[in-house]
Amino acid sequence: MSNLKISDRFVKPFLSQANLEVELERAEKARQTVLNRSGLGKEFLGWVNLPSQTKAEDLQSIRKAAELIQSHSQYLVVVGIGGSYLGARAVIEALTPEFSTPETQKKTVKILYAGHHLDADYHFRLLAFLENKEFSVNVISKSGTTTEPAIAFRLLLSLLERKYGKENIKNRVFATTDKSKGALKNLADEYGFPSFVIPDDVGGRYSVFTPVGLLPIAAAGFSINKLIDGAKQMETELHATPSQDGNLACMYASIRNGLYALGKTTEIFVSYNPSLGYVSEWWKQLFGESEGKSGKGIFPASVQFTTDLHSMGQYIQDGERKLMETVLKVETPKQDVYLTEKTDDNDGLNYLAGKKLSEVNQSAMLGTLIAHKDGGVPCLEINVPSITEETLGELLYFYEFACAISGYMLGVNPFDQPGVEDYKNNMFALLGKKGFETRKKEILSHLETI
Ligand code: PA5
Repeated sequence: MSNLKISDRFVKPFLSQANLEVELERAEKARQTVLNRSGLGKEFLGWVNLPSQTKAEDLQSIRKAAELIQSHSQYLVVVGIGGSYLGARAVIEALTPEFSTPETQKKTVKILYAGHHLDADYHFRLLAFLENKEFSVNVISKSGTTTEPAIAFRLLLSLLERKYGKENIKNRVFATTDKSKGALKNLADEYGFPSFVIPDDVGGRYSVFTPVGLLPIAAAGFSINKLIDGAKQMETELHATPSQDGNLACMYASIRNGLYALGKTTEIFVSYNPSLGYVSEWWKQLFGESEGKSGKGIFPASVQFTTDLHSMGQYIQDGERKLMETVLKVETPKQDVYLTEKTDDNDGLNYLAGKKLSEVNQSAMLGTLIAHKDGGVPCLEINVPSITEETLGELLYFYEFACAISGYMLGVNPFDQPGVEDYKNNMFALLGKKGFETRKKEILSHLETI
């Protein structure tokens, strides 16, 4: 049994049992389509059995590379965008304490990120910062041609060459890319950089359990074996359990599709733990890129409570009623803080004396769930006992499987992203890339008319 639990107690007032059962039947069909590999985008289903098919020697070679990085680097720069960095960042940030002690500072490689946007200031400052630091680079791109990481890698490679000498950087650059094609693969071969392969049948946003996610996570000092064990546990459960017998992914996909049909077109991912901020970013990419097509799709949004209750709370409680919430609830913190009594009670908080801060957070959560339900927002709860490598493995696989089911229920191909090309074509035309001359003329004449 996995550690995840779902509660729909605050959804029930909105979605009738009869409606839910219809959706559960549709979810079961979609689940079979995933398992039989008979649906749209079936050539990209390599992630479905990935956890159970990961071999001990694959993990061993990733750990070896991670140990090499740890042996000589204070920093590892992860260069990638979208699915090529969000999974690793989600896990690393969820597990890394916000404040390092001198102890942890000495032991761990700190992970930095580049190539996930084109901001000049950020990249200037990163290069300046790295000038006198020991660092390595893990450049990750399935296509090997994505502009943002390619630019960042060119800048970092030039710094590495200047700092260490071209002949001395073979143990500082790790390329994660296609097995045979793309500019990055060619570059890695030319320089002799160690390479890790992204399987052909695994798309970027489903790649966290490949070296795309595993190498940075291992380099950051976390157990990739435990992460894969958790994912494997969830894989076994979701593959074996029919929708009607409580399959968690089917339940989630059914509820969100049932509510979508009732006009709830935005799903807000809610967490009460700031360390889960990048889990929500990863989730938004997974669902947004998988479902938002052909004029359809639930818009994935996210908030951090209680912080955002003081900014977005008003809208959620009282604004346009197109929202549903999915609350990721962590039952037990790793450490707790006790509130003590103060003799003069001049801050008026003595009524909390003897309580743990986690109890206050849980009360805020329950109070908000009730208020939002009363305000017309259905709230689904996904409960995890604590945040560990295992539970993150379970959670991320759960979302991947649920996303595939949900996409099929919606009638789209959850594994392509045709819409992403449009901005690229315009950008290439504006930058004068060869082959985009006609597009450039079209854009310029269009700009004159507006
Ligand atoms: O999910 C996806 O496929 C995308 O988000 C890609 O991961 C992203 O565009 C980066 O692509 P690449 O790994 O080819 O550089």
